[in-house]
Amino acid sequence: MSDTTPTARRMLLATGAAALAGGTLTACGGKDETKPGQSEPGSASPPVAQSARSAEAAAPSAAPSPGTGKALLKSSAVPVGGGTVLKEEKLVVTQPTAGSFRCFTAVCTHQGCIVSKVENGTIDCPCHGSKFAMTDGAVTHGPATRPLAEKKITVAADGNISLA
Ligand code: FES
Repeated sequence: MSDTTPTARRMLLATGAAALAGGTLTACGGKDETKPGQSEPGSASPPVAQSARSAEAAAPSAAPSPGTGKALLKSSAVPVGGGTVLKEEKLVVTQPTAGSFRCFTAVCTHQGCIVSKVENGTIDCPCHGSKFAMTDGAVTHGPATRPLAEKKITVAADGNISLA
């Protein structure tokens, strides 16, 4: 009677070990197949959709800002026969004759410096000495060869000058 009990125990242990080993292998194989397949498609699609939306949203919002009509300065801040450089806005507003206002880009057409002053009838660039007529932005002295681009403005009854 003592011989059968240890033999039965060995058989049970061997069967149990085999069952455990098989169960462990099956569980590992199952987990490895599901994790990568489920996580990759879910995490890859949202960033693509967000970047496309942000690019679409940025384009329309940038377009209306120049023509919003925000006052640049008061007409009284522009001397007759001179002008005022707005460095932040990269614009220069001139008043060649009393009550006649013109506006140009302040970015020099030579190499992109911001013009620094309006003096003796010209808009002057400090970098290489180019000068532009305060009446129409034409080059009066090089090295620049192209005129300053004019910007349309409106002058309100209260004297506020803004981009048209
Ligand atoms: Fe204005 Fe050269 S950048 S003169």
